Amino acid sequence: MKIGVLTGGGDCPGLNPAIRGVVFHALDFGDEVVGIEQGWKGVLEKITRPLTLNEVDEIINYGGTILFTSRTNPFSIEGGPERAIENLKEMGIDALIAIGGDDTLGVASRLFDLGVKVVGVPKTMDNDLSGTDYTFGFDTSVNIAVDALNRLRDTARSHKRIIVLEVMGREAGWVALFTGIAGGADWVLLPEVKPDFDKMCKHLEKDFDRKGYALVVVSEGTELPLQEEGETDQFGHKLLQKRGVGDFIAKLIKEKTGIPTRSAVIGHMQRGGSPTVFDRMLGSRVGVKAVDMIHSGDFGKMAAIKGNEIVSVPLKEATGKLKLVSKEWIDLLEVFLK
Ligand code: F6P
Repeated sequence: MKIGVLTGGGDCPGLNPAIRGVVFHALDFGDEVVGIEQGWKGVLEKITRPLTLNEVDEIINYGGTILFTSRTNPFSIEGGPERAIENLKEMGIDALIAIGGDDTLGVASRLFDLGVKVVGVPKTMDNDLSGTDYTFGFDTSVNIAVDALNRLRDTARSHKRIIVLEVMGREAGWVALFTGIAGGADWVLLPEVKPDFDKMCKHLEKDFDRKGYALVVVSEGTELPLQEEGETDQFGHKLLQKRGVGDFIAKLIKEKTGIPTRSAVIGHMQRGGSPTVFDRMLGSRVGVKAVDMIHSGDFGKMAAIKGNEIVSVPLKEATGKLKLVSKEWIDLLEVFLK
């Protein structure tokens, strides 16, 4: 068989181990693997390169994606889906493995409906994809954010300040939640919870009186009383980087409490670097599973982790509705906001 593999959407650590898992297991079946570069853009423009053992052998610890990525959406381009299907045929690809989050896998699901033999591999540092308990990329990025928070604690304590750390997470607050709990933050703001600024400031004043500093983690997607507009990508998502959420919260805290407050944005630093063991293992496992799914004709599905099992779930179940932070997790967070 000739298997095509692509990575789409925001990059994250674990993509290379997943690509490697695909190539290693494809060799067990004598398959040929073709890397399609830059996600769906590479399908539309036929940008490919062969993926051999040599090519992937040493990428287990590389961040990013050796196949490059893009946020191209064939369904937002006139004639895009037809061109994608035609090109896959012309490239002689018997089955396609799409590695991505909700957007990339949403495209895969729609192409499956149009007859493309495709399986999905879930990734996103946001961990907001439905149908799977975790996505690779999340563990590494949260570890980076926790490390940043540890460093901010040192300087906040030394200067007797409040420091706000803004983390990524467009729609879902998983990154902020895990960073906040694992990093021992004093307050956490998530997109899923409408902020109560008075309550937050009273709480921070109490923490500041007790220990002389306080730490806040805020998700970039947190609801703010702002007039907002701005650039969107091909999937209609707002680009949040210029929203200045951390800065806004820091100014508000300073105004309401009078305590010197600073903010820091970790941004894309969270998406780079060597994947953690968890992400290497998860990436490798779902990559291998995707090849098994192809050989058992399990198309239109995604390799997912449920508990500690790798299973296949329909792409339709995984896409279209993001996995947001649930009440149980918010209750857990509140235990630690003392
Ligand atoms: O990959 C998801 C994500 O990391 C979001 O959390 C963030 O808002 C977005 O990507 C940033 O996208 P870009 O890399 O296109 O600026």
